[in-house]
Amino acid sequence: PQHIDGDLEKVVLSEQEIQSRLAEMAADIQRDYEGKDVLLVGVLKGAVMVMADLSRHLSRHVEIDWMDVSSYGSGTRSSGVVRIIKDLDADISGRHVLVVEDIIDTGLTLSWLVSNLRSRGPASVEICTMLRKPEAAKTDVDVKYVGFDIPNSFVVGYGLDYAERYRNLRVVATLAPHMYS
Ligand code: PRP
Ligand code: MN
Ligand code: MG
Repeated sequence: PQHIDGDLEKVVLSEQEIQSRLAEMAADIQRDYEGKDVLLVGVLKGAVMVMADLSRHLSRHVEIDWMDVSSYGSGTRSSGVVRIIKDLDADISGRHVLVVEDIIDTGLTLSWLVSNLRSRGPASVEICTMLRKPEAAKTDVDVKYVGFDIPNSFVVGYGLDYAERYRNLRVVATLAPHMYS
């Protein structure tokens, strides 16, 4: 398999598991949004793979837009205070927005993002995430579509990085402990 070397400990989700779950999620989305215009909003950079694959499992037209947000402060993880690095190009007022994420960890990023988006007067805002870590939650986020709930260990691949590496893995894997410097 691609890039599976000493840096990685164990494959958590195979390429096939990811793709077949995405196909199921796409079918749910297609059913729920029948007759409605949907704007998929990806959160850079992690959501790039999920967006590319999920959107191609949809057999209907959607628009795609992107936001890039970043936590303030010196902490390495989410503080809950977020600033917008790149805003949407689209005006979402009156529109059905589906936020696409790779992972919900503490939930702080999405909780901020959803309330930010809601303030713009969309018809609806829902969340679709490939991964969620229930044990890491610091706030409740109402998520409509979840690919997999996973344990609270450090995972990389399929968009998820460690120091900007491993995003291009086709699988989700745990990082070997010796990698945490
Ligand atoms: C990661 C991940 C989510 C967010 C989840 O993004 O892609 O967007 O953290 O964390 P939270 O639930 O604790 O807020 P990151 O900020 O690392 O940026 P990236 O997508 O560019 O890697
Ligand atoms: Mn991200
Ligand atoms: Mg990251």
